[in-house]
Amino acid sequence: MKVEFKGSYPSIQTLPQADLPEFAFIGRSNVGKSSLINMLCNHKDLAKTSSKPGKTQHIVRFGVDNLWFLIDLPGYGYAKVSKESRKKFGEMIQDYLLERESLFCVFVLIDSRLEPQKIDLEFLEWLGECNIPFCIAFTKTDKLKPVELERNVENYKTELLKTWEFLPDIFITSAEKKLGKEDVLGFIQEVLKRSKANG
Ligand code: GTP
Ligand code: MG
Repeated sequence: MKVEFKGSYPSIQTLPQADLPEFAFIGRSNVGKSSLINMLCNHKDLAKTSSKPGKTQHIVRFGVDNLWFLIDLPGYGYAKVSKESRKKFGEMIQDYLLERESLFCVFVLIDSRLEPQKIDLEFLEWLGECNIPFCIAFTKTDKLKPVELERNVENYKTELLKTWEFLPDIFITSAEKKLGKEDVLGFIQEVLKRSKANG
């Protein structure tokens, strides 16, 4: 897998034309988006990570095998950035998700250690209302014991089934332990193959 940094853009208007499929990674600030991208790409610091929330502030594109793009997005819901910049990020993310024709699927990252959070559930709801295809990736699963992880994932599914008729694809990941790589990349390959078959 050949991955190249292709650029960092402050708005959808500044993004290059949509020519290849894009798969975007999104979630609350500090959930582990950039770390997961690095893990998928076998790269230590392709996407910049930080223990401080709010690291990624632009739409960042990585080209994979000259066939598709991985998109790193800023996190949502970080209370400590100014209201102004929270609004700016929100709009940037929303514009990208609503207007990007080449967006194939969004991976919504959820911290596996937490109870279902209102902000994530509302975000998933919004994606559904807008007909934006998504799946869920639980992050930081290395920080839990297997039984705790299972309990939290089941708990999450139960919560989702209160509003959703079907469950989305769900991936269990750990950037630390390099867990979930084959599943996520396999899913992306499958989506690409399907879209090709459908012309
Ligand atoms: P923003 O760009 O600020 O929105 O954050 P992000 O979602 O890109 O998170 P990032 O990848 O920068 O990771 C945040 C922190 O969580 C860092 O300190 C990472 O080392 C840590 N982290 C990320 N993934 C994992 C994981 O799978 N396991 C563990 N133990 N730590 C992780
Ligand atoms: Mg980041």
